[in-house]
Amino acid sequence: MPEESLTITDNRTGASYTVPLFKGAVRAMDLRKIKTGPDDFGLMTYDPAFMNTASCQSAITFIDGDKGILRYRGYPIDVLAEKCTFLEVAYLILNGELPTEPELKEWTRKVTLHTMLHENTKQFMRGFHHDAHPMSMFISTIAALSTFYPAAHDIFSRESRDLQILRLIGKVPTIAAYAYRHSRGLPYVYPDNSLSYPENFMSMLWKMTEPKYEANPALARALDVLFILHADHEQNCSTNTMRAVGSSQADPYVSVAAAAAALSGPLHGGANEEVLRMLDEIGSLDRVPEHIKKVKAGEVKLMGFGHRVYKNYDPRARIIKKAADAVFEVTGRNPKLEIALELERIALQDDYFVKRRLYPNVDFYSGIIYQALGFTPEIFTVLFAIPRTVGWLAQWQELLGDSEQKIARPRQIYTGHDLREFVPIEAREKTPAAVTA
Ligand code: ACO
Repeated sequence: MPEESLTITDNRTGASYTVPLFKGAVRAMDLRKIKTGPDDFGLMTYDPAFMNTASCQSAITFIDGDKGILRYRGYPIDVLAEKCTFLEVAYLILNGELPTEPELKEWTRKVTLHTMLHENTKQFMRGFHHDAHPMSMFISTIAALSTFYPAAHDIFSRESRDLQILRLIGKVPTIAAYAYRHSRGLPYVYPDNSLSYPENFMSMLWKMTEPKYEANPALARALDVLFILHADHEQNCSTNTMRAVGSSQADPYVSVAAAAAALSGPLHGGANEEVLRMLDEIGSLDRVPEHIKKVKAGEVKLMGFGHRVYKNYDPRARIIKKAADAVFEVTGRNPKLEIALELERIALQDDYFVKRRLYPNVDFYSGIIYQALGFTPEIFTVLFAIPRTVGWLAQWQELLGDSEQKIARPRQIYTGHDLREFVPIEAREKTPAAVTA
């Protein structure tokens, strides 16, 4: 009997099975042999919301949620945030190693060459309603890129894959900036390839009539650090979506669009927008206890708190708090910070939050910095999607190179009717709880 194994006794039949362990886990398919008889399908695992299921092997990001550890390719997030640029970290995440100086230069040059959008993409974006949500514009435009680059379907060509990856990383800031300008009724600003990745993004967002946009270096650096912190986070909801859609061999544009759609929800990347709304609603320090009361009564959630994996502290929140100081030195202190700090202070002492191990996550402070940088809440999730595109693409690449992966297709436990006799329309009864508009 292999040492790394489990012995399972099926109390229904008395039969005993040896199930090998694989890297500390049970392979769900090894349970299929546990049957009550030849007609039995075999044992499945039931895990709605993937609470305890590893869906892949990955060498990209390591998280220890209990210890509050996050590493990309083995490097601690705080070291990368302090010493690297976002494009340097993007190279690391995608290629597995930090770039040498010439490699970084070449990588930066290549990404920069792909910042322009086809003019028709611009026309396409112009068609959105004036008050369209920037995240919805972002998602739709990324999907539309698939129509501009049909060769992207050739996902097993390394050359084509590399090209699409460069295009996506180069173009996401341009699309994000165009979506933002559209929502403000401002003319689009073309990329300026003499600027760094964050500076160029800021130029496309905020350049008005001046011949060249000059970003404040401290603010550009803060934005770059925020990009680093958001670049990957292993198998979260949007990355799982990227892998699920990618597993059907869809092209990377529609796969990234689907991942971005998953990110847009308020329980995922949409949370930072919700945090700001919540802080606005609370409005002043004296109303914090009242809000905490509502949270504890189950009326609302404390947005920006809690995480599926981190049950100690989200290490990104700690770095963001530091970055906030650098930003506020330039912009002046955002009054919402006081409310956020008070919420955190009270929550961290309160039994409700302590018992449930609820701590501030990355979204709790990111919105406050984004606002200080000059962004409005509707664009916050787009700011998350720009760097996360790198993580999605790295995970997609890893998926395509993994011989164990197949189309993602979970099983279900069927709870519906057994076989029923067909009822002619004149004999049918009114459907209870039918979908009504
Ligand atoms: N406020 C109040 N109570 C909370 C919160 C919260 N933010 N988060 C969890 N809880 C409570 C739940 O009600 C539950 O309580 P119960 O045991 O009495 O039923 C308990 O804590 C456990 O929470 P779950 O919902 O089971 O935790 P799960 O891992 O499924 O959810 C999630 C994690 C979605 C992040 C959740 O904490 C949440 O909704 N937070 C607010 C939204 C948010 O900030 N999302 C951003 C996450 S980070 C990111 O995606 C980048």
